[in-house]
Parts: sequence; structure tokens; C-alpha cells
Amino acid sequence: MHSLILGALIISPSSALVARQIVPSTDWNGLRDQVGGRLIPAVPLAAPCFSEGFNSTACEVVKKGYVDELFRSNSTTGYIQTQWESCQTTGQQCLLNFLDPDDPSPVAAPHKCSPGGLPSYFIDVRGVDDVKAAYNFARRTKVPLVIKNTGHDYIGRSSAPGSLALWTHNLKDISYNKSFVPEGCTDAKPGVTMGAGVQWSQAYSFAETHQITLVGGSDRSVGAVGGWLQGGGHSPLSNTMGLGVDRVLQFKVVTPDGEYRVANSCENQDLFFALRGGGGGTFGVVMEATVLADPVKRIQALFLSFKGNDTVTRHVWSILVDNALNWSQDGWGGYSISDAVAFINPVLDKEKAAKSMKPLLEYANKLKGDHNVKDVNVVMMEFPTYNQWFDVFSRQNVAAVGTNLAQASRLIPRETFTTPTSRTQILDALMAARASTPRTLILITAPSSYNSTERIAVNEAWRDTVWHIVTSVSWNWNATINEKRDSYKKAEEAISHIRNITPDAAYFNECDTYEPNFEQSFWGNNYAELLTLKQKYDPDHLLECWRCVGYNPHNPRFSCYLPE
Ligand SMILES: Cc1cc2nc3c(=O)[nH]c(=O)nc-3n(C[C@H](O)[C@H](O)[C@H](O)COP(=O)(O)OP(=O)(O)OC[C@H]3O[C@@H](n4cnc5c(N)ncnc54)[C@H](O)[C@@H]3O)c2cc1C
Ligand SMILES: *[C@@H]1O[C@H](CO)[C@@H](O)[C@H](O)[C@H]1NC(C)=O
Ligand SMILES: *[C@@H]1O[C@H](CO)[C@@H](O)[C@H](O)[C@H]1NC(C)=O
Ligand SMILES: *[C@@H]1O[C@H](CO)[C@@H](O)[C@H](O)[C@H]1NC(C)=O
Ligand SMILES: *[C@@H]1O[C@H](CO)[C@@H](O)[C@H](O)[C@H]1NC(C)=O
Ligand SMILES: *[C@@H]1O[C@H](CO)[C@@H](O)[C@H](O)[C@H]1NC(C)=O
Ligand SMILES: *[C@@H]1O[C@H](CO)[C@@H](O)[C@H](O)[C@H]1NC(C)=O
Ligand SMILES: *[C@@H]1O[C@H](CO)[C@@H](O)[C@H](O)[C@H]1NC(C)=O
Repeated sequence: MHSLILGALIISPSSALVARQIVPSTDWNGLRDQVGGRLIPAVPLAAPCFSEGFNSTACEVVKKGYVDELFRSNSTTGYIQTQWESCQTTGQQCLLNFLDPDDPSPVAAPHKCSPGGLPSYFIDVRGVDDVKAAYNFARRTKVPLVIKNTGHDYIGRSSAPGSLALWTHNLKDISYNKSFVPEGCTDAKPGVTMGAGVQWSQAYSFAETHQITLVGGSDRSVGAVGGWLQGGGHSPLSNTMGLGVDRVLQFKVVTPDGEYRVANSCENQDLFFALRGGGGGTFGVVMEATVLADPVKRIQALFLSFKGNDTVTRHVWSILVDNALNWSQDGWGGYSISDAVAFINPVLDKEKAAKSMKPLLEYANKLKGDHNVKDVNVVMMEFPTYNQWFDVFSRQNVAAVGTNLAQASRLIPRETFTTPTSRTQILDALMAARASTPRTLILITAPSSYNSTERIAVNEAWRDTVWHIVTSVSWNWNATINEKRDSYKKAEEAISHIRNITPDAAYFNECDTYEPNFEQSFWGNNYAELLTLKQKYDPDHLLECWRCVGYNPHNPRFSCYLPE
């Protein structure tokens, strides 16, 4: 065994054999030389808490950053949902208690630190040659290849046990060109070109500096170019400004044949189509993308939060349901959970915004006088830029980080909101979902009023969507395999109320891990064409991920997913 490297810093070597490829150390050394020494052996994020002591300085750093998304996305082995660091089937992991990172029980015997489901090595990608070297290595050794950007993927697509990971985090270049012309084209548009490692916090600050608007997600540490963009990319601005994929002008991508290609509406149009919603980790490694920049927009915003009972939540949600179509026409986007609502609007002025939101404002003001309802907070505010709204919003609302999380979701079409009967149906279904899991989230982030002109690869149902609904359920570090399975089932059960009354459509990036009929749900009529393009650009399936285009459920790289 001494002449072999099993990847990673092996902390429990015998059990690590389960899913890991055995590759001679000379091969890894050769790869290290080809990538300028930037081959990083995987050390689980919490490893120092086991090897150096729970009170060691190194462990204190981990405890402090354990539920911090920037800390996690800064590190090679940190994932936002930690089940993708662990191996769910074998129970091997190296986790702390996210509810209380200072709880020493996870490091007490008999618990051990194991690389679990982590890649064995990460290449700190700095250029195209690094990617080519990785493709050659994977082809020759059969070691699975994954692309890891920020590690936000909800269903583990940026991780695989024993794999070689291309870590794109340090590709941070960003630039603005007022008259960007995609290669081979003639028309100029304002465009921002971002390296694959740029995260939304960086992109939004850049937009603020240049007084432009970029359409991006609700979380500051999600990548702007990686999985978010290639899977669709929704934003509270999407209603009027489109999805991420509607706005992309050009990708530069290393395809699995080792070619560095430009994909835009004039060159490699088929690849451009595939990357506009066909999913990350599937058609190549995107090195950079250029996206459309809009002039700066004033934002009208509404916040409402309260502590009330189910009756109050139902009433608030009934207002959201009854006004869904009008507000969609008025340009609103935003989010709601049971005790909070946040809406923004980039097209209305202050007066029109207040008028449009009147039904909700009136009810909110009534709640203030209701002694059964506590902490009612309602404001309408104007922000000079989207970025300034985001700073306030994102500081207030950080999603679950460092947890284990199961999700499920559905896209809700216009039709659902057109009759009193269908509106009651969706309201009942929402309340039933919420009874299954309090983490039931309404996202008003579909491109409902966006006038699309170009073909994109996401399910065409997106064009008719008004809401996206997500349910999620989490489990603790010491959950049994049955508890994990039950959590996935519970997220599915919660969404089933909504699934029963809506078409088969869901968002690739926020979905049930076990989404049935996923080809239809994620891509609708586009799937057949995407599959042909997968065969064209990646015939040997060097890239493969869970419920991605061309998915092969029997691939051993999926050995840490709980069987269906
Ligand atoms: C807290 C949180 C908030 C979120 N908010 C939103 C939101 O507002 N809107 C929204 O649409 N989604 C949102 N998402 C979902 C998000 O779009 C997905 O998690 C997405 O996969 C993140 O992409 P990433 O590159 O940051 O993450 P990673 O996990 O690093 O990568 C995701 C996938 O993309 C692939 N990939 C990454 N980089 C590249 C590349 N350069 N070339 C090719 N493939 C690549 C990976 O292999 C993997 O398959 C959110 C997720 C979380 C956890
Ligand atoms: C860590 O420090 C705490 C408080 O100082 C102490 O109670 C505990 O025993 C220490 N744990 C270990 C494993 O040394
Ligand atoms: C993440 O890395 C950036 C850039 O190196 C640094 O500015 C930031 O402080 C880091 N954040 C955390 C929480 O580690
Ligand atoms: C912007 O793009 C145009 C067209 O491709 C190019 O001629 C020009 O040099 C670019 N400007 C900058 C500042 O990069
Ligand atoms: C879409 O086009 C219609 C008709 O031209 C126009 O009235 C509307 O404002 C456009 N919507 C957006 C969001 O640009
Ligand atoms: C939505 O707008 C239409 C047309 O302006 C109006 O008749 C209707 O009452 C509005 N619906 C609600 C719930 O306010
Ligand atoms: C819930 O709150 C509403 C609004 O204050 C109140 O009318 C109702 O009686 C409450 N229901 C219960 C079960 O407490
Ligand atoms: C899991 O660990 C927590 C402490 O971190 C403990 O309170 C709980 O009882 C444990 N659960 C099981 C099933 O062992």
C-alpha cells in the first residue's frame, strides 16, 4: 500500500477503499508537474479538529468559519451542504455539529475523520493548460473528474469520492466593456466578462463601481459563471430582465477534446445553446463568460416580517396568490417564507410601487394593531441601485450553510393563478407543504415579463412560470442512514402537494435529488438535442454529474449517493 496514494490525507484508510480509485503516486506526481505544482491533496475542512485537537488553533478557525459561506467557498474541501463532503452510503465523514460547532461530540471516539465523498485532489486552475492536463489524466487513469467552483450545488454535482477536482475559485478576473462584440459577431452590447471563479459579491461590487446592473442571485457567495449560470440562473430581477442564460453574450470553454472554444450566437452556436441552461459540469470547463450589463436601475423594495400563527401566514400567502399575476405584470420579483416577504421592482416609481403593493401594505398595517401578532415590521424603501438593496437584503438573509440539506421544487405556471378554484388549490398546497416542512420558500424569480428573443436550453416551461417553490429539510451530523433517507422523502412529500397540481417542470439547480423524470422536468423539449450535443462534445463522458444531461446512474462515481 505504501507505493500507492489513495488521494487525500488518508485518515481512515481501510474504509476509504470503498469508492476510491487506486492510482500510482507517480501518475499524480506527473500531473502535479504539468500543473505547475498546483495539485492540492484534499484535507477535509474539519480535519484539524480531529488531528490537532478540538481546542487547537487550527480547529478554532474551522469552528469559527463552519457556517460561514465565504469561509467554505474559499477552501477546496468546503461545500455549502456538508453531505457532499461525506459519504452518505458508508457514513464516512469529517463533520462538526452545525447547530453548535463548539460541541465536541463529533470528534469524540468512536467518530473518525474520513475523506468520505470528497475528491482526492484539487487542481487550483489558473489557465487552459491545467484543464487540458486534467482531461488527459482522467482519460488515461479513469479517475473521475469534477469541476468545483464554490461548492454550492444542492445535489452534490461538484463533488465525487476519490475524484480529481478542477477548482476554479481563483479565476477572479472581471472587466467591463461598454461595446463588447462577441467574437465573429458585429453588434456591440455593454458586457461584463467574468472569470469562472467570480462570486456574486464581487460582481455586485464591480457593478456598483461602474454604475451598471448585473442580474444575479440572492446569495453573495454563489458563482456568477459556474453552475448558477449554466443551469439557468434566477434573480429577483429576472421578471423583467431575464434569467442569467437569457443575458449571456459569450462563453469561453475547454471542451473534453482539449479544444479551447468560443461559444456565442455567431460561433459554435450549438455549444452556446447547450451552455445556456444545459447544466454545469456537462459540456466542458467554462473559463469565462460575458454577460449583458444594463444601466443602473432604481429599486423599489418592500420588506415585511412578523411573528404570527398559521392563519396569518395563510392570509399573507393568499394575498401573494391573488396578486401573483398583477404583480408579475407590474415587474415585481422577490421571495417569501412563512413569516417574511421581500419584493423588489426595477421598473415602477415610488408612487406606483406603493399603489401596486397596496393589498399587502394594508394587511400588514392591520397586523400591527393585532395583539396576537408580534414584531410586525413593514417598510417600503427606494434604493439607488440593485447592489445597495442586495447589501441590506443579503446581510439579513443568509441561507442554510454548513448543514446537510434535502430539497425539492416545482415551477408554477400562470394558469395556476387564473381562477378562484386554482388559486385556492395552490394556497392549500402551499400550506400543506409548509405543514410538512417549515422551510417552504416561494421564489418570484421567473422571467415572467421578459421578452425573449433567443433560444435557451432550460425547460420551456420557464417562459410561462410565475413562481418557483422550494421545500427543504435538514439533518444533523450524527443522523443515521434512515434519518437521511427520511429527510429526502420529507422534502419530496412536502412538494408532492404542489407537484400534484402543476406541470412536470423544475429548476435544475434547486431540485429534488431524486427528481423523477428529470430529463423532462429540467429540459422539457430541449432534452433530445442536449443529449446529441453531449455526445458530440463529450463522447467519452469525461464529465458526468447526478441527473445531468447524459446521466448514467450506474457510474461508480455516484457511490456515495443513497440509492433510490
Ligand atoms: C445559499 C444558496 C443560494 C442560492 N441562490 C440561488 C439564486 O438566487 N438563484 C439561482 O438561480 N440559484 C441559486 N442557488 C443555486 C445555485 O445556482 C447552484 O447551487 C449552483 O450549482 C451554484 O453554482 P456554483 O458554480 O457556485 O457551485 P458549484 O457547486 O461549485 O458548481 C455547481 C455545478 O456547476 C459545475 N461548474 C462549476 N463551475 C463550472 C465551470 N466553470 N464550467 C463548467 N461547469 C462548472 C460544477 O461541476 C457543478 O456541477 C443557490 C444555492 C445556494 C446554496
Ligand atoms: C477544550 O476546552 C474546553 C474549555 O476550555 C474544555 O472544557 C475541554 O475539556 C477542552 N477539550 C479538549 C478536547 O481538550
Ligand atoms: C475569503 O477569501 C477572500 C480573498 O482571499 C478574503 O478576502 C476573505 O476574507 C476570505 N473570507 C473568509 C471568511 O475566509
Ligand atoms: C471592447 O470591445 C471592443 C470590440 O470587441 C474592442 O475593440 C475594444 O478594444 C474593447 N475595449 C476594451 C476596453 O477592452
Ligand atoms: C415586452 O414587450 C412589450 C411589447 O413590446 C412591452 O410592452 C413590454 O414593456 C416589454 N417588457 C419588458 C420587460 O421589456
Ligand atoms: C389585477 O388587475 C386587474 C386589472 O387592472 C384588476 O381588475 C384586478 O382587480 C386586479 N387584481 C387584484 C387581486 O387586485
Ligand atoms: C391566529 O391569529 C389570528 C390573527 O391574530 C387570530 O384571529 C386567531 O384567533 C389565531 N388563531 C389561533 C389558533 O390562535
Ligand atoms: C447527536 O448528537 C447530539 C449532540 O451533538 C446529541 O444531542 C444527540 O443525542 C445525538 N443523536 C443521536 C441519534 O445520537
